[in-house]
Amino acid sequence: MKKIVLAYSGGLDTSCIVKWLQEQDYEVICFIADLGQGVGQGEDFKAIEARAHAAGASKVYIKDLKDEFVEDFVLPALKANAIYEGKYLLATALGRPLIAKHLVEIAHKEKAEAIGHGCTGKGNDQVRFEVTAGILDPRLEIVAPVRTWEFKSRDEEIEYAQMHNIPIDVTKKKPYSIDRNLWGISIEAGVLENLEQEPPEDAYMITKSPTHMASYPRYIEISFEKGVPKKIDGKTYKLKNLVAHLNEIGGLCGVGRSDLVENRLVGIKSREIYEAPAATILYTAHKELESLVLDRELAHFKEIVSLKYSELVYYGLWYSPLKEALDSFVNSTQKHVTGSIKMKLFKGNCVAVGRKSTYSLYKKELSTYGKEDKFDQRLAEGFIKIWGMPYKTR
Ligand code: ARG
Repeated sequence: MKKIVLAYSGGLDTSCIVKWLQEQDYEVICFIADLGQGVGQGEDFKAIEARAHAAGASKVYIKDLKDEFVEDFVLPALKANAIYEGKYLLATALGRPLIAKHLVEIAHKEKAEAIGHGCTGKGNDQVRFEVTAGILDPRLEIVAPVRTWEFKSRDEEIEYAQMHNIPIDVTKKKPYSIDRNLWGISIEAGVLENLEQEPPEDAYMITKSPTHMASYPRYIEISFEKGVPKKIDGKTYKLKNLVAHLNEIGGLCGVGRSDLVENRLVGIKSREIYEAPAATILYTAHKELESLVLDRELAHFKEIVSLKYSELVYYGLWYSPLKEALDSFVNSTQKHVTGSIKMKLFKGNCVAVGRKSTYSLYKKELSTYGKEDKFDQRLAEGFIKIWGMPYKTR
């Protein structure tokens, strides 16, 4: 009998997969990764573990990966200002290589020859899991039952689960497909597939509707050290807790919603809505601080890097040589990204309204129109002559 380590969520698909793999003569070890999908709503990992056993798992691993997720995956992406197609802060995409890394580790520990996942054949996540696993151990077999099995509908899966006494909560039919972690929530399918329709309020899980909201703003100050967010309003937090706290504050102010028709790696356009309060606040504040401390050429070049970085993350190339090289570049840009940004959160908006840094390159005596002016305006004439000379010549 071959051994397989399965990325298990506790949902209908992966529960059926456990049984299905057993029928294909696999011994199934389930791996439940805690990336913060339960924060604030009390995801019951014990119940998920029990379900894995009931479905036929021979062993279940539960790992709390929240710290590793924010320190090793979220933070580099934040320093890089990674955002896909201008609206997606990559929560799901950043989680996949981490889960794959641990699948491979467990496979080695258990001497398993295969790993499995429950992704469909139409999405990005299958690519991220498999490309990552292939980089980390090219010899592992990868099994993706949803791409090939016989079930054609959710009802058929429910029937299969009931036939095998897999405890599934069929009463609450989920209207959406949801992926959640500490960095954000991705929500798709159901009525969201109608592009002409505004997402219904019930699609959102952690952000309050800006329509019914206090008519006064909330101000918070975020302090960074070398690109790493350290404090909120002067109080130091561990990164994981800082993110969780900002999700709460931002969520109450309706911050971090986005609605995107995105280009999937497999060539399909799909509509997904996102909630990422902490990610939105930190991304905005971090960029604001960079505007203050990076010189023009570095700042402009870094925007090109951000774009490429977001593509690499989205495309499942986290462990690629280019991504590693871009990390070196990005880290070298963060030396002086130290300072504080005051943010105003109001009815779904999130804007920087104050900034300070000891490395600020803003010099009032240069920019002022007041009498403290130290800029010698006479020099501008020569500068413009030489700058424009090639065009005049032409
Ligand atoms: N579109 C996002 C991505 O490719 C999220 C995918 C998972 N979405 C979901 N609702 N389950 O990164």
